[in-house]
Amino acid sequence: MAEIREIPSSLHRFERIGAHTHIKGLGLDENLKAVKIKDGMVGQEKAREAAGLVVQMIKEGKLSGKTVILAGPPGTGKTAIAIAISKELGPNVPFIQMSGSEIYSSERKKTEILIEAMRKCIGVEIHEMRKVYEGEVTSLEIRTAPHPYNPYQRVPESVRLTLKTTKQERTIEAGSSIAQQIIAQGITEGCVIQIDAETGRVVNLGLSLESEKGKLYEVDTRERVPRPGGDVLKEKEFVYTLTLDDLDKMHARSRSGSFFSLLFGFSESKEIDSEVRAAVDEMVKKMVDEGRAFIHPGVLFIDDSHLLDLEAFSFLGRALESELVPIIILATNRGITTIRGTDVKSPMGFPLDLLDRAVIIATHEYDAESIREILKIRANEEKIRLDGAALEKLTEIGSSSSLRYAVQLLSLAAQNAKCMKRDTVLVEDVERVQSLFLDVGQAVEHLKKYEMRMLHY
Ligand SMILES: Nc1ncnc2c1ncn2[C@@H]1O[C@H](COP(=O)(O)OP(=O)(O)OP(=O)(O)O)[C@@H](O)[C@H]1O
Ligand SMILES: [Mg+2]
Repeated sequence: MAEIREIPSSLHRFERIGAHTHIKGLGLDENLKAVKIKDGMVGQEKAREAAGLVVQMIKEGKLSGKTVILAGPPGTGKTAIAIAISKELGPNVPFIQMSGSEIYSSERKKTEILIEAMRKCIGVEIHEMRKVYEGEVTSLEIRTAPHPYNPYQRVPESVRLTLKTTKQERTIEAGSSIAQQIIAQGITEGCVIQIDAETGRVVNLGLSLESEKGKLYEVDTRERVPRPGGDVLKEKEFVYTLTLDDLDKMHARSRSGSFFSLLFGFSESKEIDSEVRAAVDEMVKKMVDEGRAFIHPGVLFIDDSHLLDLEAFSFLGRALESELVPIIILATNRGITTIRGTDVKSPMGFPLDLLDRAVIIATHEYDAESIREILKIRANEEKIRLDGAALEKLTEIGSSSSLRYAVQLLSLAAQNAKCMKRDTVLVEDVERVQSLFLDVGQAVEHLKKYEMRMLHY
């Protein structure tokens, strides 16, 4: 007998641990009150509870066209909270994350990048009734004919098949395109298939449980499905979830049906006409009015949004007034700063009219206790064993320098311990990496010394 060995799946996986992998949600209880430590989140209770309310309103579709600003000093969890919001929203609500700097591209207009990002955040659930032939194949006969250019080769010309449901049995005949799909998908007697009556697309649903083969071959790995009920030719509802951006691209592709675009596909960087977008909007609105589509407004999160400029802000402001817009969350760590592209100073570098429309969630510096807990969670996430004294030392560094710096030192200290052939991080590891690397304050001091020397020359 052949020896078959299963390869454990963990061998294939390369685990990456990013800065926010420990964040699993906002860590709220059923009344949306923050639990001090939950879902990888520690402290910052007010910001988390505020974010919880935002999530609920997003889910109920009450917040589209609004802006939420996350404001707070560096390293206080703004990005972490935005990630937690996306986790809470679940996979069906589109969540797009970008940085303010991403709008500066030499190839595309800033507004184009923003429109595309916004349209990626709006999900459209389309319900479509389609006529399909569906049933278990009980007989299958493919007729072939000589290839028109190569008479020695035979190609499928037509197919005659009998489909059976629990209610009836019907025989249909179809042309070469359906015959080819049947061959390509390896469809045989016993398979349950679906053929779109209009387009002729064939879908193989699996092996019928009631068929001879379905009962016989226990090792057949094909999925087993019950024999369908009802008529062979019936109307079925299909549900697809796409984004406005998907629809734009599909529409643009079908319009630019030139020979080259068919051959080489659609180039992604090409800008989409505003006409295409208008047509898609019209189509979607019509479908919504007819009850055939539902809109799921998602979230566009722009991190470091003080990097946006006046042009981008005024565009966002205008876009917020239109009908199909996502919720926009902006994060920034600036206090009063100039609005990019102008010499006007304003709070957080945002224009006043945008600030006027937004709700602001603040994040605050951490106390030692929260820093200790976050370090514990990070150590756990990075599978680092941390000695009690080393944790205290890192907490101290986190309070006097910054949480981020302490998190960085934690990974470096673990690497150091590994070099020393130890599996637990001790105080001496922390002290060693602390002496090898500088925090921002030390780096500034260090460079200042040289500046003085340069001036004396
Ligand atoms: N409340 C928290 N609970 C758990 N982890 C946190 C919390 N706040 C921050 N962190 C973690 O600390 C690190 C720094 O936080 P984050 O990157 O979210 O800061 P930020 O406010 O976005 O900073 P910046 O202004 O520099 O972008 C990240 O690894 C983050 O996951
Ligand atoms: Mg951030």
